[in-house]
Amino acid sequence: MNTDYYTLGRTGLRVSRLALGTMTFGTDWGWGADKETARALFNAYADAGGNFYDTADGYTGGISETWLGEFIAERSLRDRAVVATKFTFNGEPGNPNAGGNGRKNILRAVDASLKRLGTDYIDLYILHCWDRLTPAEEAMRTLDDLVRAGKIRHVGLSDVPGWYAGRAQAVAELRGWEPVSSIQLEYSLVQRNIEHEFVPFGAAHGVGVTVWSPLGSGLLSGKYKPGAQGQGRLETLRGSTNPGFQKFTERNWRIVAELEAVAKEAGRSMASVALNWVANRPGIASVILGATKVDQLQANLAALDFTLDPALTARLDEVSRPDTPFPYSFFGDETQGMITGGAAVGDKPDGYRANVRIPAGAGAGVT
Ligand SMILES: NC(=O)c1ccc[n+]([C@@H]2O[C@H](COP(=O)([O-])OP(=O)(O)OC[C@H]3O[C@@H](n4cnc5c(N)ncnc54)[C@H](OP(=O)(O)O)[C@@H]3O)[C@@H](O)[C@H]2O)c1
Repeated sequence: MNTDYYTLGRTGLRVSRLALGTMTFGTDWGWGADKETARALFNAYADAGGNFYDTADGYTGGISETWLGEFIAERSLRDRAVVATKFTFNGEPGNPNAGGNGRKNILRAVDASLKRLGTDYIDLYILHCWDRLTPAEEAMRTLDDLVRAGKIRHVGLSDVPGWYAGRAQAVAELRGWEPVSSIQLEYSLVQRNIEHEFVPFGAAHGVGVTVWSPLGSGLLSGKYKPGAQGQGRLETLRGSTNPGFQKFTERNWRIVAELEAVAKEAGRSMASVALNWVANRPGIASVILGATKVDQLQANLAALDFTLDPALTARLDEVSRPDTPFPYSFFGDETQGMITGGAAVGDKPDGYRANVRIPAGAGAGVT
């Protein structure tokens, strides 16, 4: 495993470029790992030098947090481990205030997560999903209170609209509250929509983009074929109405076919090429690995140990290029020419980032 650490956002927190996702810790959802396997996944990651663990209060009914806390304690790794967890999803059916991003739920959720994790602080506390209701001011002020109370160290967002993320960051900066350091979103060869809004947001505002489902829930491992039955999460969830699991589309099969050809030429597995591609995209701080088996994880941990030939990268860029809907379609070269009066305005030289507060020494992708 590549043991380089990146700083998360503008913080002094150093995290592995490959994080360990623990959404598969527990079999409650029908596609995870039992406790022995989860412990082996944890140990394989820790032994390889990884330090960044991702969980959520809603994963497998709290089992994920509980086991992660136990595994960290078993090896006395709490000081070494960077633990990210999340709140939003409801912990008590029938009680509308046991979910969402309001102050009452955040304060309930943080204590429940601390208890399950068996720790007295969370390194990165993440708003899991926009609840379409709570003002960014309420969530950000509450999260700042938690930093001051010593219960959490840093603040993250996940699965929110771009305008909400921008407002959350602006209000935190204006009020001197703890800013957003990380934004966790789905990103892979089969899901590149975040490139329009969130990657530029992260680069401009010091927010590290952390990637979930980098293999499209396993699709990019190549083990699923059109019209055939496969084995794994996507097969278990075939017919699911959750948009994250609807991966068997004509467009995606074209991407998988090109990935297969590229991986063959590179002499690497499809999964490692897909992970390498996404980790090296601009603005990406960390990629969260998911696995149900130790051999999957061992193979994926080697995904950054090689450099993909630029010609092969270009083929993957091309086959997976996302549509450019309005208003992004309006920001292209033609419009820019109308703005600059036809004068050529090139990119700023390296190191000239007057309007972008990125720490000295940080390069592309290190936000
Ligand atoms: N913030 C959010 O809303 C959000 C949402 C989703 C996930 N996440 C986080 O992101 C983490 C990773 O997401 P993900 O699990 O969806 O990632 P993923 O990399 O897209 O999918 C991982 C799954 O693919 C299969 N797989 C992985 N490596 C493989 C290999 N080498 N060969 C064959 N199959 C392989 C395994 O499932 P099977 O064995 O079942 O096929 C594995 O569980 C999660 O654990 C969680 O921490 C966050």
